[in-house]
Amino acid sequence: MGRIRRFTIGNPINTEAVVQEIPVEQGAFPYFTRVQGIELKSDGDSQETMVQKDYLSYQMGPEDKVYGLGENVRGIDKRGWVYESNCSDDPHHTEGKRSLYGAHNFLVVAGAKVFGVFLDYPGKLTLDIGYEDMDEIRITPKDWNMDLYILEGEGVLGIVESFRQLIGRSYIPPKWAFGYGQSRWGYKCEEDIRTVVKGYRENNIPLDSVYMDIDYMERFKDFTIDEGRFPNFPEFVEEMKRQHIHLVPIIDAGVKIEEGYGVYEEGVENGYFCKDEAGKEFTGAVWPGKVHFPDVLNTQARGWFGRKYKFLLDQGIEGFWNDMNEPAIFYSEKNLGKVMKELKSVKNDNMDMWEIFAFKDLVNGLANNPEDYKSFYHNMDGVQVRHDKVHNLYGYGMTRAAGEAFEELEPEKRILIFSRSSYIGMHRYGGIWMGDNQSWWSHLLLNLKMLPSLNMCGFLYTGADLGGFGADATEDLLLRWLALGVFTPLMRNHAALGTREQECYQFTRTEAFGKLIGIRYGLMPYIYSEYMKAALRGKMLFCPLAFVYPDDKHAREVEDQLLFGESIMIAPVYVQNAKGRYVYLPEPMKLVRLKGMGQIEEEALGQGHYYIEVPLEEVVFFIRPEKIVPYTEPGQYMEEVQGKEIKLLHFASGAAEYELYQDDGYGKDYGNPAHITKLRVEGHTIEMA
Ligand code: GLC
Repeated sequence: MGRIRRFTIGNPINTEAVVQEIPVEQGAFPYFTRVQGIELKSDGDSQETMVQKDYLSYQMGPEDKVYGLGENVRGIDKRGWVYESNCSDDPHHTEGKRSLYGAHNFLVVAGAKVFGVFLDYPGKLTLDIGYEDMDEIRITPKDWNMDLYILEGEGVLGIVESFRQLIGRSYIPPKWAFGYGQSRWGYKCEEDIRTVVKGYRENNIPLDSVYMDIDYMERFKDFTIDEGRFPNFPEFVEEMKRQHIHLVPIIDAGVKIEEGYGVYEEGVENGYFCKDEAGKEFTGAVWPGKVHFPDVLNTQARGWFGRKYKFLLDQGIEGFWNDMNEPAIFYSEKNLGKVMKELKSVKNDNMDMWEIFAFKDLVNGLANNPEDYKSFYHNMDGVQVRHDKVHNLYGYGMTRAAGEAFEELEPEKRILIFSRSSYIGMHRYGGIWMGDNQSWWSHLLLNLKMLPSLNMCGFLYTGADLGGFGADATEDLLLRWLALGVFTPLMRNHAALGTREQECYQFTRTEAFGKLIGIRYGLMPYIYSEYMKAALRGKMLFCPLAFVYPDDKHAREVEDQLLFGESIMIAPVYVQNAKGRYVYLPEPMKLVRLKGMGQIEEEALGQGHYYIEVPLEEVVFFIRPEKIVPYTEPGQYMEEVQGKEIKLLHFASGAAEYELYQDDGYGKDYGNPAHITKLRVEGHTIEMA
């Protein structure tokens, strides 16, 4: 086991990110130095200003790579950009952004020295990794109150394993949540959902779940069902279950302000909402108009909000997604008033550049305004804390509310929960999805690159909106994205209101979609086993080649192939119109080509570079030496796959073993040795192509 050292600066807030008690060391911390002073800075308009600098500095060597930061833009190697931990509701995941929805302050520097650093700090943190100075890491918090952990150990993988021990076991969803799910913002009523299920079943495309976006609620009120559109909800949930479909409703962070609405009234009565400076409930606006935000950083309020999920559990629901929990604020009551006044004062119908910019900024600045985040407070069990100081904990708190309540309400059963916003620590309570991406090829690649960084930070149950959320998807994009999605624990197709319909049956090659998604089900014995072992043993599920082959200079550079579990390497196609792609094999591997589970082709290849053809309907992956991949016949839904005969693919020249993990998919007796079956093959001499 590696070494973890903890240093405390100032008076940090307890985020409960870590589960191990590490004694605080006194004195200077290793690797970083604190740099303080005055710096001259150009503001971009050739004006020079004096700025106060105060940051942690690490001098990178030419070979250093920097891994981590969980959910974020750019590469697996984070070097060469400035990132911010500042959970943001921003649907434009472009290279120029600095933060997405999560705050995952864990980095591993790998070069001449290899070490990890976790900055347990819930406010805004700037992580400049070679932006101001290409060879320097500069870490700047808003204030100097944090726990800093330095991790050392056996290579990057050893350090990640220590970190995962430090932060505790990753969330485990029910097994059906590994099935394929269809979602769209715009399914409004029972009939819309029936149409989706029929579209899948009639075309023999497997399906396990349909997601219910905000329209199922009565005027976007959490823990309500619109009775006009869902006249008998428990009966509808049953009807879907008979077709082996799980319905997964969304829950939003903001609670609508409305007289007579129980959740609102109870929240006000008990003081469970966040308050403003004057001690009044803070009012922001989201989908339902004006809302209050449950104070999920307060133990009582968190317990109260979590128990509200019972309303849906009692009607047969077994899974949820938590949204808008950065928290997203379309506008605050206070700021809207101010902006409206200013807008009304604009009498000019001939605005020049500066005036129109200022006019637009006023309106655009209403949403997620940093000043609003400074204007409300949490009651952290007796201590009043201004929201911006703990901003990055809100999604964590909301999902923890659900997770803790599920333990209490359904102690024997796993419930699906994943969130949009997160902080390290939340990985123990739920998964995350990657938020509002676009139907862009570059976002397919971004999806791939984010997977290992998230795994480093404990988030194993994750996936992107397959096909892309915003913009119009094309059939080839969806096929290629599903070929990656076959491997991601959360395999969900989701799209935004107003975009092209992208349920698989809306396109022409329905047979190809059926086969592709069928491969997910066929590989389930492997996918599920690898997930469970990664969660229970604190391992990576998706791993960059650089972590496993650190001395291979080609492998160190590869950012578009990943190891998936112990046996497989994946190399998805992410370029439109490409007939295949170049793949680097750091060691001999067996190419497996699946034209649906019924037609499997195998070819042994030596170490080196290859051009591999990958037709749109096929999934290609590679098996590592002396490794086994268990698989089975596909089915139309998860229960149909459960218990089917296990077959083995392998690339073994001698005796090879594999630990297959199987359980009922619901229970929590994870450690039961009966869940593990040792599979063995006697290999044979391999002819290389
Ligand atoms: C947010 C979510 C998205 C959802 C939409 C409507 O943008 O990220 O997934 O569809 O809200 O609820």
